Amino acid sequence: MKRIAVLISGTGSNLKNLADKCRELSSKVKIDLVVSNVKDVKGLEIAKHYGIDTVVLEDAGSKISIVGKNIADYNEFVRLRVAAEKAFDGINSYLSKLDFPYSVQQLLTDCLSNINTVSNVLEEDIKVGVLQGVFFKAFAKHQVNKEEESEVLSKIESILSNLTKEMGQIAILFQSIKKNPSFLSFFERENYDLSLHKILAERGIDYIFLAGFMRVLSPSFVDKWEMKILNIHPSLLPAFAGSKAVKEAFEYGVKITGCTVHFVSAGVDSGKIIAQMPVEVLSEDTVETLHGRIKQAEKELYPSVLERLINGKI
Ligand code: GRF
Repeated sequence: MKRIAVLISGTGSNLKNLADKCRELSSKVKIDLVVSNVKDVKGLEIAKHYGIDTVVLEDAGSKISIVGKNIADYNEFVRLRVAAEKAFDGINSYLSKLDFPYSVQQLLTDCLSNINTVSNVLEEDIKVGVLQGVFFKAFAKHQVNKEEESEVLSKIESILSNLTKEMGQIAILFQSIKKNPSFLSFFERENYDLSLHKILAERGIDYIFLAGFMRVLSPSFVDKWEMKILNIHPSLLPAFAGSKAVKEAFEYGVKITGCTVHFVSAGVDSGKIIAQMPVEVLSEDTVETLHGRIKQAEKELYPSVLERLINGKI
């Protein structure tokens, strides 16, 4: 008997489709647990209706958020946000004291003009990523001592990151400078994913099915569950990755879209494709009617993948 966990954030129609398939395959597979990162969502009611245990693991609600779309495109950046332009002035005065050749703004401009590979990312995000690089490069180059480094960094109000190693280093640095507990939230993603991992591992989960789960899982979590996490996405990947896939495909004017089931890798909506189903865009469609028909396709596709997986065909 294989045990699966379904991770949700919303209405849970895919959860229902999977639960129905599990009933059909009852001796081979069961949904052992539903995890939601949002409380009071319809998907949780569906889980209860099917007698499935539920856990609500809420987002920390910290300042941290992923605002770019193509996270995989700028994985090499640790993103560090200086919360306001005014903070730049403070930082600049420290930089000039340290005999830096440029102001933060100049460094940002220089760095931004060197970025060609990043697409679909908010400009602010890029700045944030570059800024981290600027500081660390600058510190190394000028052999800044710890005290001076602390002074500069104490001007920074919050940090964003989707990388763990560098994040850890920065967070440790900050903790030693500022005794501000909000900086502990840097670890939010890692902490969340660790709690999630523990819950799933303790229950002996074999596969994780993401069904509208609106969180990006950290690379360390994905590593632990390599080829064990599946996701369903409402477009024909690799076209229209990200959280607004249906709207973007519709607005682009594609004539065929659809849905994709894939293994989850560290990037967003990337990872080996398992199955796809096309859906035609009709002239009278709205984003909503189109999404409705995509969901009809999902109703067939996700359960059929579950069945093949359980029968060792994937
Ligand atoms: C689906 O369209 C799925 O493709 C996407 O999020 C939506 C979830 O819907 N990942 P539901 O919560 O399963 O109803």
